[in-house]
Amino acid sequence: MKKTKHLAVFASGTGSNFDAIQLAIEAGTLDAAITLVVSDVPTSAVIDKAKRKGLKTFVFDPKSYPNKRVFEIEIVEALQEAEADFIILAGYMRLVGPTLLHAYEGKIINIHPSLLPSFKGLDAIGQAFDAGVKITGVTIHYVDEGMDTGRIIAQEAVKVSDTYARGDLQRAIQVVEHQLYPATIQSLLQQ
Ligand code: GAR
Repeated sequence: MKKTKHLAVFASGTGSNFDAIQLAIEAGTLDAAITLVVSDVPTSAVIDKAKRKGLKTFVFDPKSYPNKRVFEIEIVEALQEAEADFIILAGYMRLVGPTLLHAYEGKIINIHPSLLPSFKGLDAIGQAFDAGVKITGVTIHYVDEGMDTGRIIAQEAVKVSDTYARGDLQRAIQVVEHQLYPATIQSLLQQ
């Protein structure tokens, strides 16, 4: 029998993409299980949500470690204990280092709220809004050592209406993210 794939979701904030993935699993449209939620922000909403769902969590404060290698060694241990097959970055606002990249080569996926390679880095929605582009969107890509530079897996465009305030654009992007991420993970797991 085919084994259900185990996902580790990494997030730093609200966790609306975590919610979308979790909902897709509950709805049966994503055939996977979240076996670990990792956060670098102990007070993040995503950790509260994960705990309410009874999911295993690994929370760390980067400031209490001498460097990235040391906390990533602990993350890898937690991932192995959770028997994670894939790492799903969902608003994890930190560059992944060599320790984690080598342990999960080709198995780390990220979502970014722009049409990469445009608007890399922080506040991609604000960058697009301020640039006045008429089309932006969402990218799902493999993670490498760069910032938002790995091989692109899926993209979807979002039109920036002339009437949009920044918050409207953020909501339009989120609607696309919450559909595209679970669907893309599902098709990756089928390969
Ligand atoms: C999402 O829009 C995601 O694309 C973005 O952070 C947000 C997290 O929202 N990620 C990046 O900017 C990565 N460079 P969420 O916590 O509600 O899922």
